[in-house]
Amino acid sequence: MRSFVHALPKVELHVHLVGSAGLDTVLELARRHPEAGVPADRAELARFYAFRDFDHFLKVYWAVQSMLKGRADIHTLVVGLARELARQNVRYAEVTVTPYNHLTDGMAGDDLLAGLESGRAAASALGVDLAWCFDIPGEKGLVAGRETLAFARSERPAGLVSFGLGGPEEGVGRAQFAPFFDAAREAGLHSVPHAGETTGPETIWSALRDLRAERIGHGTSCHEDPRLMEHLALKGIPLEVCPTSNVRTRQVASIEAHPVRRMLDAGVVVTLNTDDPPFFGATLEGEYLAVATALGLGRADVARLAENAVLASFLPNDRKTSLL
Ligand code: ADE
Ligand code: ZN
Repeated sequence: MRSFVHALPKVELHVHLVGSAGLDTVLELARRHPEAGVPADRAELARFYAFRDFDHFLKVYWAVQSMLKGRADIHTLVVGLARELARQNVRYAEVTVTPYNHLTDGMAGDDLLAGLESGRAAASALGVDLAWCFDIPGEKGLVAGRETLAFARSERPAGLVSFGLGGPEEGVGRAQFAPFFDAAREAGLHSVPHAGETTGPETIWSALRDLRAERIGHGTSCHEDPRLMEHLALKGIPLEVCPTSNVRTRQVASIEAHPVRRMLDAGVVVTLNTDDPPFFGATLEGEYLAVATALGLGRADVARLAENAVLASFLPNDRKTSLL
């Protein structure tokens, strides 16, 4: 199964750029920015990086974020992700970028865009096509929605395909961001908010109703509402399921206990993804293997999961066909 999963041409639909920073990338950034106080020694950094709990995850996430000062740093991050994707035979990824966080951390918009673009070109040379999702960090409120929309609309970098909403869900209602999603959709961007990662099915309903979600980031709690699962299946709205992330953030007890089986049984379009891979010790190949083992899936079922991701992507049809 391991070599079968490796050989599948894979697509990743839910991975955060900052959360994709592996040890090598962070070492390079830490040496470039010693003032950030991130360990520049491999063993020490590995200890700092070892996931303990969600608060620790956020601490490391923000430490990486704080070292992103200019275009070279964004380039380093994108190329590090692309190398890792190429290693796993992942041919295409929609990568979530949170411009508001970079801009409020003092990066110039031009530098962010230049780093994304040069990184995307380098990824393409490695055989990995990248597209971007610009997402609102929901915990920063409406100002973040306004700024993210303005940046996406005014800059429209090559490869920008979608508009998202991330961060905590508790106390961060989806509906308040509806005007930004309306405008993003009018500008031709697809709607892909996180929903149902850390709160219940009502958040997923709200993402569908208020943000016109075309795919759902996570959607873990949909199994609590059979009518919702039926609706997702009927409308063919894919879920970007991130099993290891959900286990590591303690939303579910284990891969075996993950509702992915119930989602599949209900006919929901499931795609497998990593979210913030090195933080959670995840790889896309590992997600396929873990779910195949936990659910006792054969090759045909695993291939179907990979196909789901191709079909749920925002690639043009001819590119989808070339990956099937
Ligand atoms: N941003 C980075 N990782 C995230 C996650 N797991 N949930 C929501 N927003 C995120
Ligand atoms: Zn996410």
